[in-house]
Amino acid sequence: MENKNFYDVIFKRKSVRKYNLENLDDTILEEVSTFISSVKPMYEEIKTEIKIVKLENVKNLLPIRAPYYILFSSENKEGYLTNAGFMLQQIDLFLSANELGSCWVGMAQPKKEILKKLKLEFIIALAFGKPAEFVHRKNLKEFRRKSIEEIRDTNEKDELIEPARLAPSATNSQPWFFRILNNKIHAYCIKQNLIKAILLKKMNQIDMGIAICHIWIAAKKYGKDMKIITDRKGLEYSPKGYNYVISLIID
Ligand SMILES: Cc1cc2nc3c(=O)[nH]c(=O)nc-3n(C[C@H](O)[C@H](O)[C@H](O)COP(=O)(O)O)c2cc1C
Repeated sequence: MENKNFYDVIFKRKSVRKYNLENLDDTILEEVSTFISSVKPMYEEIKTEIKIVKLENVKNLLPIRAPYYILFSSENKEGYLTNAGFMLQQIDLFLSANELGSCWVGMAQPKKEILKKLKLEFIIALAFGKPAEFVHRKNLKEFRRKSIEEIRDTNEKDELIEPARLAPSATNSQPWFFRILNNKIHAYCIKQNLIKAILLKKMNQIDMGIAICHIWIAAKKYGKDMKIITDRKGLEYSPKGYNYVISLIID
């Protein structure tokens, strides 16, 4: 299975919601498992567990029926939701690069017996399997996204912000905003109103990790390294209506 060209996949991936429910070959499942064990965390110090289960082990409140679900569990520590988004998005891109369908499912829950066996807190699932619809978009016009002007202050790092703009997010809420200052990108998450916050607060932290994953992959493509820091200035410069999340140093 292809393990390199994730940058290109960012520009064509989509959520796949219709699946062929037949099992995948064992060799394919093994390759998915091998990739899962190579995924990079955003924060090394947060313990995580990633497990593949079959459809019958999951309660899905929305009608996405896929043959397999990747369950992501984590220690509950500062940054754990952003870390979940960052890690699981690498798997989403890997599956898409290999013509398998996938979809984040905030509404899925493992059944009780499975939940009991998890060592860490269950966070979110990613459905996957053989797609029963097109696995890729034909062009950028098919992405329903905010314009780039709405999600950043200056255009100095658009080669990294454009991939973030295309990232998937819960209910397509696209909660991100980026401030660019020399080699730093400060990342912010929208403050939702009270009703939306109940539904989206946790999900939006995951979304931020997904967008940061896309920035990291684009930075690598351009031969740059990305460091993740908390920056006092980033917090001070928070735009109205947004919470500061983290800063990225691109060198
Ligand atoms: C954290 C998260 C949770 C999501 N939960 C669901 C879900 O429960 N059901 C669903 O159909 N799609 C879900 N999605 C998929 C989004 O609706 C989708 O990513 C967004 O509409 C953008 O579309 P695209 O992924 O096709 O580009 C979720 C996405 C994310 C990132």
